[in-house]
Amino acid sequence: MPKNFHITTFGCQMNEHDSEIIAGILSEKGMLKTDEKENADVAIINTCSIRENADKRFFGTLGQLKKLKEAKSDFIVCVCGCMMQQEHIVEEVKQKYPWVDIVIGTHNLADIYDLIEQTVEERHRIVEILKDSTLINEHLPADRKYKYKSLVNIMFGCDNFCTYCVVPYTRGREKSRNPHRIVDEIKYLAQDGVKEVTLLGQNVNSYKSEETDFAGLIEMINDVDGIERIRFMTSHPKDLSDRLIEAYIKCDKLCKSIHLPLQSGSDRVLRRMNRRYDANRYMSLVEKIKKAVPDITISTDIIVGFPGETEEDFVETLNIVKAVEYDSAFTFLYSIRKGTPAAKFDEQIPEGIKHERFNRLVEVINDISAMKNQKYLGRVEDVLVEGVSKNNKQALSGRSDGFKLVNFRGSEELIGNIVPVKITEAKTFSLFGELKYR
Ligand code: 5AD
Ligand code: SF4
Repeated sequence: MPKNFHITTFGCQMNEHDSEIIAGILSEKGMLKTDEKENADVAIINTCSIRENADKRFFGTLGQLKKLKEAKSDFIVCVCGCMMQQEHIVEEVKQKYPWVDIVIGTHNLADIYDLIEQTVEERHRIVEILKDSTLINEHLPADRKYKYKSLVNIMFGCDNFCTYCVVPYTRGREKSRNPHRIVDEIKYLAQDGVKEVTLLGQNVNSYKSEETDFAGLIEMINDVDGIERIRFMTSHPKDLSDRLIEAYIKCDKLCKSIHLPLQSGSDRVLRRMNRRYDANRYMSLVEKIKKAVPDITISTDIIVGFPGETEEDFVETLNIVKAVEYDSAFTFLYSIRKGTPAAKFDEQIPEGIKHERFNRLVEVINDISAMKNQKYLGRVEDVLVEGVSKNNKQALSGRSDGFKLVNFRGSEELIGNIVPVKITEAKTFSLFGELKYR
């Protein structure tokens, strides 16, 4: 069997976690992860299909691998993830990249080692895509990127069918994991040194098992010894319950931050997006959350240039952004996704207008982020120290309870601890502070 494997990961935290699971499966079988493609015997690309630039980056990476394939005859190339759930992409891979050995979808990742073995033995290309799966694989090992924090899937798939989004087609129907299996996994992680878990699902607010809902699941996790912080990603405003808001008060480990995708501030656009809330409902939710949890930080996702978006629609988005005062926001140019309803909508917005609106939006968001960060000056924040800062090797870097990036000077021995840091400087995207000795 080949020995070394390399993984390139595109996309969201769910994909990142899938790659951790792939690495876990292969490592358990005795293979070794390498950071250099050149040293690998197997190169895996875990793909994302959420926007067009992810597609382009995939084909770019695949092109680069061709040289390695030509240089080493037994080099194995495996492509997996969301893009492979789209028929037209698989066809393109088969036709234009006949040297790709394994094509595997999102529903059968657990088979990856067996498929590699089969390729080695049979020396022909394998394409294994399942349309969907009701099976939830439990007890898969994961080779975590971080020692002290971990991603935990609580559910898979999505049933919301927002008209711009490809996820319901690539990740299949929504299914929730059994809460006891989730808690068992988190207990194991806690024993392994993990202090912070991020619960993953496309819409965690619709988590449902026979015994409990999402708020109940958080309560169960709040009782796990060793876990100090609970986060989740991502929640759909239409399903956000009062019980979840109460969980922020009841569960001391639930971090006071929420990611609440707005997508657009225009009712007309929201309707065409099939988001099933309007601007008023969104604003009243935000007000309710802020009232219940005054210090909460709020982040969001916004799409600019959805088909038919007028200047008036866009200004309504700006108005909500100003009214909510987001701590941070991910902004996206609308990208046509084949097979989604919005791809066929008339009135696609010209790229120039999309970019112009995008730049205006980013400016407003950044001004608000900078203003909000100023409020932290002089305050003491508890920071989970993640490592040495990427931009300043003299400093350590971590996240506050509200998910603010905080840099400060301190000994590397602090990595993995939650320490108090007094904020002395506030920038647009990060805070700087001094370690406060208790
Ligand atoms: N174009 C642009 N952005 C998109 N998103 C999802 N689909 C598209 C698309 N076709 C954004 C949404 C979502 C985030 C993960 O990606 O804002 O919340
Ligand atoms: Fe896509 Fe909407 Fe599902 Fe989120 S809720 S994954 S945006 S379809």
